[in-house]
Amino acid sequence: MKQAKVISVLNMKGGVGKTTLSCNLAIELADRGYKVLVVDSDPQFNTTQTLFKYYTGSVDKYNDLREHNLTIKSIFSSSHRNPGITQEATNQDCNAIYTFEDIQKDDLIQKGLSIIPGDLSLIVDINAATSDRLKAFFFTQKLTERFDFIIIDCPPTWGELTSISLTVSGYYLIPTKLDEFSTIGITILSEQLSEKVAAMEGKLKCLGVVYMMLNGTKSVSGIALKNRPFKETLEGYFKKMSSDVNSSVKQFQTVIYNKQAIATSSVIYKTHDKYPELWERIKELVNEIMTRLQVEEKV
Ligand SMILES: Nc1ncnc2c1ncn2[C@@H]1O[C@H](COP(=O)(O)OP(=O)(O)OP(=O)(O)O)[C@@H](O)[C@H]1O
Ligand SMILES: [Mg+2]
Repeated sequence: MKQAKVISVLNMKGGVGKTTLSCNLAIELADRGYKVLVVDSDPQFNTTQTLFKYYTGSVDKYNDLREHNLTIKSIFSSSHRNPGITQEATNQDCNAIYTFEDIQKDDLIQKGLSIIPGDLSLIVDINAATSDRLKAFFFTQKLTERFDFIIIDCPPTWGELTSISLTVSGYYLIPTKLDEFSTIGITILSEQLSEKVAAMEGKLKCLGVVYMMLNGTKSVSGIALKNRPFKETLEGYFKKMSSDVNSSVKQFQTVIYNKQAIATSSVIYKTHDKYPELWERIKELVNEIMTRLQVEEKV
C-alpha cells in the first residue's frame, strides 16, 4: 500500500517561488513515474492556470470544471459526508480531483498528474465549521493510498488555508529569496510554524529551504556577494528555528538563479529551451528531496 508524502510549499512572503516550485517538482516527480497530486490551496490559483496550460494548452477545461463546481471549493462547501463530491457526481473520479492525460512533447512523453484545482472564491467558504473538510476529503478518498506524492501550493499568507494545508501535510518546503524582507519573513514564518507543529504533536517536519531567484555569479561558492550576508543571517537562524519547529531546518544545496526572461513567461522550467540549466536544477533538487525523504528511486 502507498503512503503518500504530503508536502506543503509555503512562505508567507509573496512572489518567492512557491508556485514555481510546486509545478516543477510535481512535473519532475510525475516524469519519474510517481503518482502525483497537486493541491492548489491559493485563491490566486496560479498553479492551476500553469498546469492546465501546460497539459491541455489552455484553461478552458478548468473553466468547465469550475462551472460544475469541481474545484477545491467544493471540498469546503459540500456536506461533510461527501466532501468534494457534487450532487451529480457518483463515481470516485468525478469529484474535485482532475487527472491530466500524458502528453507528447517533441519525442518525449510527459506523464500526467492529478490536481485539485484552485478557486478564486475559495476564501468565502472557509470557517471553523468547514476547516476539517480537506482532511475529511483526504480520508474518504484515501488520497494517501492512491498517490505517492501530494504537493500543496499554499497562499502567501498565514491564514486558515495555509493552516488547513499543513494539517494534512507531513512536510513543508520553504522557498525563499535571499534579501532583507525574505530573511525577516522566515523568522515570522518560524513563529507561526512552531505553534502549528505543537498543535500537530510534532508530526510536521521541515523538508528544507530552497534559495530561489538568486543573483547570477561566477564565484565558486555559487552565491553572489549581494546574497551572501542574507544567506549567513538565515543559516545562523536555522539552529534556533530547528528547535522552535521541532525538526531540522536546512537549506538545500541546489539553488535557483534569477533569469530575467522567466519573470514574464511560464514558470515551468522544462519549457524554457534557452535555460536548460534551470530544469537540471529541478532534477537535482528532486534528488536531494528523495534523499531527505529516504524514498527509493523508481527503476
Ligand atoms: N528563475 C527565475 N528567474 C526569474 N523569475 C522567476 C524565476 N522563477 C520564477 N520566476 C518568476 O517569479 C515570479 C514569482 O514566482 P511564483 O509565482 O512562483 O511565486 P509565489 O511565491 O508562488 O508567488 P505568490 O506569493 O504570489 O503565490 C513569477 O512571475 C515567476 O514567473
Ligand atoms: Mg503562488
